[in-house]
Amino acid sequence: MGKSRATSNRFTDPADFTPFFVRRGGELHCEHVALKAIADRVGTPAYVYSGAAITAAYRSLDRAFAGPRGVPHTICYSVKANSNLSVLRLLARLGSGFDIVSGGELHRLRRAGVSPKKIVFSGVGKTREEIREAIRAGILLFNVESEAELEILAAEAARLRRAAPAGIRVNPDVEAGGHPHISTGHHRHKFGVDWDDARRLYFAHKGSRWIHWQGISAHIGSQILSPAPFRRAIARLADFVRELSRAGVPLQYLDFGGGIGVRYSAEDPLDVRDYAAVVARTVRPLGCHLLLEPGRVIVGPAGVLLTRVLYTKQNRGKTFVVVDAAMNDMIRPALYGAVHPITVARALRPRSSSRVDIVGPVCETGDCFLQDWPFGEVNYGDLLVLWGAGAYGFVAASNYNSRPRPAEVLVERSRFRVIRRRESLSDLIRGE
Ligand code: LLP
Repeated sequence: MGKSRATSNRFTDPADFTPFFVRRGGELHCEHVALKAIADRVGTPAYVYSGAAITAAYRSLDRAFAGPRGVPHTICYSVKANSNLSVLRLLARLGSGFDIVSGGELHRLRRAGVSPKKIVFSGVGKTREEIREAIRAGILLFNVESEAELEILAAEAARLRRAAPAGIRVNPDVEAGGHPHISTGHHRHKFGVDWDDARRLYFAHKGSRWIHWQGISAHIGSQILSPAPFRRAIARLADFVRELSRAGVPLQYLDFGGGIGVRYSAEDPLDVRDYAAVVARTVRPLGCHLLLEPGRVIVGPAGVLLTRVLYTKQNRGKTFVVVDAAMNDMIRPALYGAVHPITVARALRPRSSSRVDIVGPVCETGDCFLQDWPFGEVNYGDLLVLWGAGAYGFVAASNYNSRPRPAEVLVERSRFRVIRRRESLSDLIRGE
């Protein structure tokens, strides 16, 4: 953070990298719908997701693990990345399972009609109530993150007289992840249990009446761009699974978490087929059913945030473009220094050499989407597109500065529908 976020010399039009957002007749379209048509109808800011892009991302990961070189597997989409009910229903129809980290996410999945048998529950701070609700629902697997949590899980299972299917989330002590805030698999992080403690807990509860050991899990970080950390982590997990099995604790599920990175601006992400080859090769001999918890790679590139220009202004030779979206709508640039390219929705104008900061209306210096970004001249009302906004976008939006949260729209071929209406002023004070 603090560094300049301009990536101008490496800038290319993001539309060149996806078949789901295309320029036609001078207008950027999502599938067959002009983004301008959506903005005119729904207003801005608004998130727009391509159903076809989500479907394609899900299928290409699923296919990468199919066939004789694959391994029996279930993709458990990580709900936190984008938890809109319509997105969850779309993925459920494709056959996806789900990874949750709260009772709220469980509630969403139940409203979306998802079978509990396709839900795994991770997270370091599951409350007793959340644990109880998930046991009652009959979920597939609890990924336990501490000894204290395991005790509560056992107590609640006994109280409900219903054994809890469980695995331990180990902390594989592998350095990975695109930013310190989203790296999780090193021993200094709060996540998971170290190898020795995990071993002790598996043995201590071996044959237990209320804890049924069914799995093991790990999630080493997010926005990982190279196969190396995955290779190291999966190898250590496989060794551990073999050791447990020899010691009389056979496990049915190996949950390898999420973390596959995507291209936002100039990244060169790994091919999911290479990822799959590394993972499948190691898991196949174990005879385990593989669970995966991808979030970003499924929905990230499938979404954009539409925003309009409110003002342009100059301060001592520096040009600011003030837009109607802000850090409350999309926090990734402010929180991680993430670079989400912004382009105009009309035909790309020849980009002048002038550079601008693109900023939101929130009263924080950090409310800046891009710094020193090369941009042609724009005017009041021009429609802009912030790319790569499908994951960790709307889900992390807030009402800071008393700003109603934006609408969400799903495009399917030549149709679009509002899948979450824009918040109203009365939504803002509901509950006060
Ligand atoms: N499984 C677990 C246990 C996780 O904690 C996460 C993400 C995932 C799966 C999904 O990871 P993915 O495939 O999306 O990398 N807000 C941050 C990302 C936080 C990720 C948290 N955990 C961002 O905007 O980059």
